[in-house]
Amino acid sequence: MASQAKMIVDKDFTIGSIDSRIYGSFIEHLGRAVYGGIYEPGHPQADELGFRKDVFELVRALDVPIVRYPGGNFVSGYNWEDGVGPKEERKRRLELAWRTIETNQFGFNEFADWTKKANTQAMMAVNLGTRGPDEARNLVEYSNHPSGTYWSDLRRSHGYEQPHGIKTWCLGNEMDGPWQIGAKTAVEYGRIAAETAKVMRWVDPTIELVACGSSSRTMPTFPEWEATVLDHTYNYVEYISLHQYYSNAEKDTPTFLARSVEMDRFIDSVIATCDYVKAKKRSKKTMYLSFDEWNVWYHSKEADSKLEPWQIAPPQLEDIYTHEDALLVGCMLISLLKRADRVKMACIAQLVNVIAPIMTETGGKAWKQTIYYPYLHASLYGRGTALVPLIQTPKYDTPSITDVPYLESIAIHNEEKSEVTIFAVNRHLDEALTLQVDLRSFGGCRLIEHIVLEHGDLKAANTAERPDNVTPHQRGSAAVDGSSVTAQLNKASWNVIRLKIS
Ligand code: AHR
Repeated sequence: MASQAKMIVDKDFTIGSIDSRIYGSFIEHLGRAVYGGIYEPGHPQADELGFRKDVFELVRALDVPIVRYPGGNFVSGYNWEDGVGPKEERKRRLELAWRTIETNQFGFNEFADWTKKANTQAMMAVNLGTRGPDEARNLVEYSNHPSGTYWSDLRRSHGYEQPHGIKTWCLGNEMDGPWQIGAKTAVEYGRIAAETAKVMRWVDPTIELVACGSSSRTMPTFPEWEATVLDHTYNYVEYISLHQYYSNAEKDTPTFLARSVEMDRFIDSVIATCDYVKAKKRSKKTMYLSFDEWNVWYHSKEADSKLEPWQIAPPQLEDIYTHEDALLVGCMLISLLKRADRVKMACIAQLVNVIAPIMTETGGKAWKQTIYYPYLHASLYGRGTALVPLIQTPKYDTPSITDVPYLESIAIHNEEKSEVTIFAVNRHLDEALTLQVDLRSFGGCRLIEHIVLEHGDLKAANTAERPDNVTPHQRGSAAVDGSSVTAQLNKASWNVIRLKIS
């Protein structure tokens, strides 16, 4: 018999309004994300700018609101000037973060063009590894100043008469990590980030800025890093970043699926640290969170360790995702939604080929990985207001994480569309859960659909040969009686229960 779980939601008990930018993503100059991913002149599906139309189709379907660029570790050694101007004059460079050759055939303006065609916005990162405030303020001037100065006129001479108007900027990347080109102590980074923020904003006062938080919750300097960095930057930035990847290299799926509980704790600790600095500074300003790298990442590590260095766009970080990875991605999306009051931006890392929901063959097909689906559903149906989920569920313990709920769930109220969407993961690997949702304050509801992502094999994946091996169906069992919903959540499944409020 299935175990029972219950959730109560009320339209007046809200977590907060969801900033659609939590469904962002990331394109780094890494592996085949750019070359052979979004950009491949000569591909049968390339448009007049060399962008792959088959990839556009998959990206547009996701309705991605913001895309971080150009890194990642890459940005800490990048000279943005190398990627603008006539392509035939662009320099080839040794790229030290990923030990490849960067041809610079795709750069800042190409990315701006790509974002427009992909119906998204750019989140630009500046290099605070080998460079500093000067190059960063020049880039803001090149990008956003209308005309009449050296950098803005250079942009115009490159064929971009109108400013790009890029609003969101990251002050470096993972500056706490010893692997980072030009890594820094928290004080060194806090100072350079504050000074860079100041001059970037003097060039364009309308921009918003993200300071680097820790590279993961397991960094030895976490959360002291956040406290020190914010001590220096609190008045200059709007967001602090979080990054986190999870792995099932240990082949312990119950623990793997429980990792989002750690993500909840990570988010809560960063909020607590932000609020500590707020109190210390007697500030009225609330610091928001940009979870601008998150995903599952481990499948490709062995293959990457064997790659020959100094290739152009080799297949790096090409994780082939399984059904169980999609379940954790679903749980991680729910974690972001549970703190929608403070997490205002987030980027699944990355978008194409590199630890990505979309895969391509260079010169060939493009298809959806398993993790594409929870990301798609959350982005399409997870807009509006996140409601406090009062949950009763059976729980389990793993060697490292206790009290893991079998049910992970949240409900979203979209007032504009008069819809409520319930996202739910059943983490149980052997048993179904019967979920009863009490939507007492909504009056009557009608079922639109109950989408289910499930598979008999937790390790099942989508490949070029079998792109539809793991795909959702709409045969979920949800039934509505007034304002009460009952659904069987099959073992190891991701569920989307969409309701119309009558
Ligand atoms: O997304 C892959 C890499 O992970 C990024 O370049 C870096 O920021 C992180 O360590």
